[in-house]
Amino acid sequence: MKHIVSGIQPTGSINIGTYLGSIKNFVALQNSYKDHHFYLFIADLHAITIPKDRLKLRKMIKELAAIYLACGLKEERLSLFIQSEIPAHSQMSYLIQCFTYMGELERMTQYKDKAQKQASVSSALFTYPTLMAGDILLYDAEYVPVGDDQKQHLELTRDIAQRINHRFEDFFKVPKPLIPKVGARIMSLADPTVKMSKSDANVKSRIELLDDDNIIRKRIMSAVTDSEGKIYYDKVNKPGLANLMTLMGAVKNESLAAIEAAYQDKTYQTFKEDLATLVIDHLRPIKERYQELIKSDKLDDILEKGRIEAEKIARKKVMKFNHKLGLGRKK
Ligand code: TYM
Repeated sequence: MKHIVSGIQPTGSINIGTYLGSIKNFVALQNSYKDHHFYLFIADLHAITIPKDRLKLRKMIKELAAIYLACGLKEERLSLFIQSEIPAHSQMSYLIQCFTYMGELERMTQYKDKAQKQASVSSALFTYPTLMAGDILLYDAEYVPVGDDQKQHLELTRDIAQRINHRFEDFFKVPKPLIPKVGARIMSLADPTVKMSKSDANVKSRIELLDDDNIIRKRIMSAVTDSEGKIYYDKVNKPGLANLMTLMGAVKNESLAAIEAAYQDKTYQTFKEDLATLVIDHLRPIKERYQELIKSDKLDDILEKGRIEAEKIARKKVMKFNHKLGLGRKK
C-alpha cells in the first residue's frame, strides 16, 4: 500500500487557514486515494524549536489530535500519532543533517522569517527542515499534502532524497507535494499581506475552528477589505477581498470565477454575511464532534494504535539507514 504523510505543529489553536490548507484536504484525499494509507501526526518536536510552555503544549497536542478526527478523518487507513513518541523521527533528522548543506538551510524563507522574530535562535530552528524531511522519508511517502508555505521544505526534502538515492540506490521514495488549488495560502483577516497564522499576536487576524459563532461573524464582518465596493478577484489591488473570496471558494469547493459571478452585483456587506453564515455552518459539526472526542477515551486509543503502527515502519527504516551508513555493529 502507498503512503500519504503530513503533520501539523501544535503551536496554537487550529485556524481556518491551517484547516483549509491541510486538514480539509486530508479528508478529501482519504476519500479519493483509497489505495493509500495515511500517516498523519502532531509535530510536537517541531513546536519546541521555539520555546513553549510545557502545560500549554500538552493541551495543544490533545486539542490537535481531537481536531484532526473531528474534521472527518476516518480511522481506517489512518495512523494518527504524536511525533515525539516515535524516536526514529529525531534519529532520522540527525542522519539527514549529514546530507544537508548549510547553504540549503540558510535559504529557507520560513527559517529567515522565524529567526528574525527571535531574540536568540536555536540551532533546532535552523535544522527544522531536516526533521521535516525525516518525517516524510521515514514512511516512504508517495504524497505529502501541505499548504503553499511548506512547498520550499518539500523541494528540499526531494533534493535530499535524490542526493541520498544517488549514493544508496533508491533508498528513499522521492515524495510529491499535494497543494490545494484554492485555499493553499489563507491570509490574515487584519492584514491580508501576511499569512493567517496560529502564532500571530493579533487574534483578530484569524478564525479558530473552535471559536464561538458570534466571534466568527465578528471577525469576518470586520475583516480588512477596500473602499471600491465592487466584487471581483484581484489579489494585487484588492488583497483583503481576494482572501475572503478564497475562503469562500475553499469552504464551498467552488472556483473563484463562480464566486465572482454569483456576487458581482452584491455589496461587501451581503458577501461578508453570506461568508460568515457559510463558515459557521461548516464548522458547527466539527465543533460538536470535537466536544465529544475531547471528553472520551477514544482519543488515547487512536493515538496509541497510531503510535504502534508508525513505530513499526519508522524504526525499521532508520535501522536500515544506520546499516547502510556503516553505523554500529554488523548484524
Ligand atoms: P504548520 O503547523 O505551520 O501548518 C500545518 C499545515 O497547514 C498549512 N497552513 C496553511 N494553509 C493555508 N493557509 C494558511 N494560512 C496556512 N497556515 C498553515 C501548512 O502549509 C501545513 O500544511 N512544518 C510543518 C509541519 C510538518 C510537516 C511535516 C508537514 C512537520 N513535519 C511533514 C508535512 C510533512 C508546519 O509547520 O506546518
